[in-house]
Amino acid sequence: TRVALLFGGRSGEHAISAATAAGVLRAIDRDKYDVVPVGITRDGRWVVAADDPERWQIVDGRLPEVTGDDAGEVVLSLTAGERTLRVLEPGAVPTVLGEVDVVFPLLHGPFGEDGTVQGLLELADVRYVGAGVLASAVGMDKHFMKLVLEGQGIPVGPYTVIAARDWATRREECVAAVASLGLPVFVKPARAGSSLGITRVDDLDDLPAAVAEAQRHDPKVIVEQGIEGREIECAVLGGRDGGPARASLPGEIVVDHSAHGFYDFEAKYLDESHVELRCPADLPDRVVAQVRSLAVRTFDAVGAEGLSRVDVFVTPDERVIVNEINTMPGFTPFSMYPRMWAASGVSYPALLDDLIQQALT
Ligand code: DAL
Ligand code: MG
Repeated sequence: TRVALLFGGRSGEHAISAATAAGVLRAIDRDKYDVVPVGITRDGRWVVAADDPERWQIVDGRLPEVTGDDAGEVVLSLTAGERTLRVLEPGAVPTVLGEVDVVFPLLHGPFGEDGTVQGLLELADVRYVGAGVLASAVGMDKHFMKLVLEGQGIPVGPYTVIAARDWATRREECVAAVASLGLPVFVKPARAGSSLGITRVDDLDDLPAAVAEAQRHDPKVIVEQGIEGREIECAVLGGRDGGPARASLPGEIVVDHSAHGFYDFEAKYLDESHVELRCPADLPDRVVAQVRSLAVRTFDAVGAEGLSRVDVFVTPDERVIVNEINTMPGFTPFSMYPRMWAASGVSYPALLDDLIQQALT
């Protein structure tokens, strides 16, 4: 079976995607799978990339990048900014994609985790791992994600959305809506990941700068009430042979708040010393059961497939509130997603195998 691993890409999570690819390149069963690594440069060129985990790792805080310099054949060029779309011959699928049995889009963030690449693969009639077009798009947009979850009775936290036009023309109303949430709040780009563009705001005077920062990533901004609670995550794996989705044991993120105001980009990838990932989380059995059941309900509510990580808060009075779903969670061997499965008895290579087999059947 030939598997194309897609990584890098046009989003701010380019390097995290490459690190995810490093983990997968190292762990995938080479006797069973023939791997074709396809890197996507920041400007959207798809190139046959080095089949070398070392090349794509995060080393001493240095983030890897698909530059195209060390690349082989360009398989597709969807170049941002040039306003051109060069997709080989009309009607033809990209060469490499046409030769593989399944694509594993290890892409995080916009232009990868948001349904765009999934749409391309649907058009090309190529099988792929993970969520489809709609679930990917819903999972990427924190506004629509909350609407979909709320609409199906899943508890989410209070929030308000700030559209670029409203911020420009009706700012006082926007500020009043934020004030009514109470402080602190978290100001986020609606569509981004890895905490990029997120600011914790404790004073309304800091709101304009936080909105401007979020708008660097997305014109649509969401402001969420800060929820007091433990940060718990749960890994979900799609069902096999029509069966229900499966939830791992939950894990917990414990951040040393003297070093990081919250679980930000730095804490996630560059500073291992102030974050502890506890797997499994030390929670009462009934809370574990509640987290797992909500994780599966969230997965089904957005129509996810393959894999997702559902992030929740467990409040001091043991309510579980869903923060978000990530349809292509960080997937290095040190990431929460594979670690939660390892704690639940599914190894990293077995997880990859399961995901690829789901995509093929
Ligand atoms: N967006 C990052 C990769 C995550 O959810 O793990
Ligand atoms: Mg996310």
